[in-house]
Amino acid sequence: MTTLTRLPFELTDEHLMLRDAVRDFARREIIPIAAHYDETGEFPLETVRKMGEMGLMGIEVPEEYGGAGMDTVAYVLAMIEIAKADASHSTVVSVNNSLVNYALMKFGTEEQKRKFLVPVASGQAIGAYSLTEPMSGSDAATMRSRAVLSDDGTHYVINGRKSWVTSGPVAEIVLLFTMTEPEKGHHGITAFLIETDKPGFHRGKVEPKLGIRASATSELIFEDYRCPVENVLGQPGQGFKIAMTALDAGRIGIAAQAVGIAEAAYEASLEYARQREAFGRRIGEFQLIQGKIADMKTKLEAARLLTFNAALAKIRSAQTGERYTTEASMAKLFASEAAMWITHQAVQIHGGMGYSKELPVERYFRDAKITEIYEGTSEIQRVVIARNELGLR
Ligand code: CAA
Repeated sequence: MTTLTRLPFELTDEHLMLRDAVRDFARREIIPIAAHYDETGEFPLETVRKMGEMGLMGIEVPEEYGGAGMDTVAYVLAMIEIAKADASHSTVVSVNNSLVNYALMKFGTEEQKRKFLVPVASGQAIGAYSLTEPMSGSDAATMRSRAVLSDDGTHYVINGRKSWVTSGPVAEIVLLFTMTEPEKGHHGITAFLIETDKPGFHRGKVEPKLGIRASATSELIFEDYRCPVENVLGQPGQGFKIAMTALDAGRIGIAAQAVGIAEAAYEASLEYARQREAFGRRIGEFQLIQGKIADMKTKLEAARLLTFNAALAKIRSAQTGERYTTEASMAKLFASEAAMWITHQAVQIHGGMGYSKELPVERYFRDAKITEIYEGTSEIQRVVIARNELGLR
């Protein structure tokens, strides 16, 4: 059964092959285990490693750096298929691909690419992106963690606590943003590449979450962690710009994740409405259910188009240098709110069965919520879009 509207551009044979391979993998390897990992909250390391072997941890990274050498459309296609099977798995894929890899590709030196990008893109290492702190979420520049350059200028000493770090409990490499010159505000933040097997790095409290429960999230604690100056990504003081640049790419990934979750909920609802009977008729024959199906389908397709639109804008930006911030934020804003609404309707269409853990519909509903929060809340996306439109800072 296909419920998809044709895209307004042609997918290449390579795109179609990737999509079909990921769909097949997700059906065989992820769907059967998703409920178990959601229930236990364990991290699905084995399937994450397998996704790495398939090239899914470095989709847009050139082959010479361990990636698959494909484009953002390919990334979106893969994210949708994985998220449709299990949002938690797609969260791990999104952080590696669009936050860690993308920042390394754009700002990394050749040496840093060899040392950090190759293991993350090839799936040998799990990456994490650490910006948020207990008292600094949407207002990302107000962080309290600090990095101080040593007297001999060879390393920074990092102290502080980060929170809500996706893959924090398992990451081998962390892209960390911390303050080096607090008096400079945004321009005092520096990006560091952290090796988590070094002294002074500790993993803190693991967050018990409503959804994406198999995607491990934790605090990270730095106590006199010594980071060599070679592991500064970009220039000192360039960290906020690097964080925002990576989030532009990340937001396309979250939009794709939301589309995948919404698609799963929509297809389950369609099937249920075709089969479930009430008052002597299939419930899909009732206009109140038809209204929901029509609105779900329309929002789903609009979300998909905005997401591919953002992917195309990102591809164009590699040539023009123009930012695709607005396209990425619009895609994330719309797709995440659509996913929340669609999964809500899916639970309602399924009635009691939608509320039961016997079906994955309640998981889709719980998983959808995070897409309105992480990598910038819906409120922040609206701020970003409106400021760009109005030419405000
Ligand atoms: N690309 C490049 N540079 C950018 C940029 C972008 N998209 N957005 C802003 N900048 C630059 C600006 O040009 C400006 O640079 P100059 O000072 O040199 O001119 C600088 O950054 C400051 O910009 P603003 O004045 O707009 O900054 P602000 O403090 O008002 O904040 C904001 C803007 C949009 C609210 C931003 O703070 C933001 O996006 N907040 C949300 C943070 C977020 O998404 N957090 C989630 C973290 S990750 C996560 O969810 C967990 C996980 O593990 C996945």
